[in-house]
Amino acid sequence: MAEPAATRRAALRTLIASLLGGFAVWRYLSPRSRGAAETLVRVPLADVPVGGALVLPQHRCAILRTRDEVSAIDLTCTHLGCAVVGTRAGFACPCHGSRFDRRGRVLSGPAPSSLRALEARVEGGQVRVLREPGARA
Ligand code: FES
Repeated sequence: MAEPAATRRAALRTLIASLLGGFAVWRYLSPRSRGAAETLVRVPLADVPVGGALVLPQHRCAILRTRDEVSAIDLTCTHLGCAVVGTRAGFACPCHGSRFDRRGRVLSGPAPSSLRALEARVEGGQVRVLREPGARA
């Protein structure tokens, strides 16, 4: 027959293991909070030409506008991170020569992928471009 102290210790260990296991499962299954998106820049919608783009090199972004839609792209080259510049045909990287069309899609490398899309919202006559929490300023 087990001693009462040994039985209590075993019950306590089982209880602690159950609590730790429950906590681990809860943490694993809980959605991760990504934090609130931050405003990168806010400009009047009227400053973005329909069928064109407003390039904001100081914010490393461009706001694109069609008749129906406003969007934004990050002007950081997807090759090694240089700032791309606006051209007549779209965007070009001065570092290694990658070229992108007006929507940021790769026309020629070495950039491996399109320029990254940023979230853009039209709010009360303003375009607000958001960046992910923790992204560079
Ligand atoms: S950093 Fe843009 S092409 Fe290399």
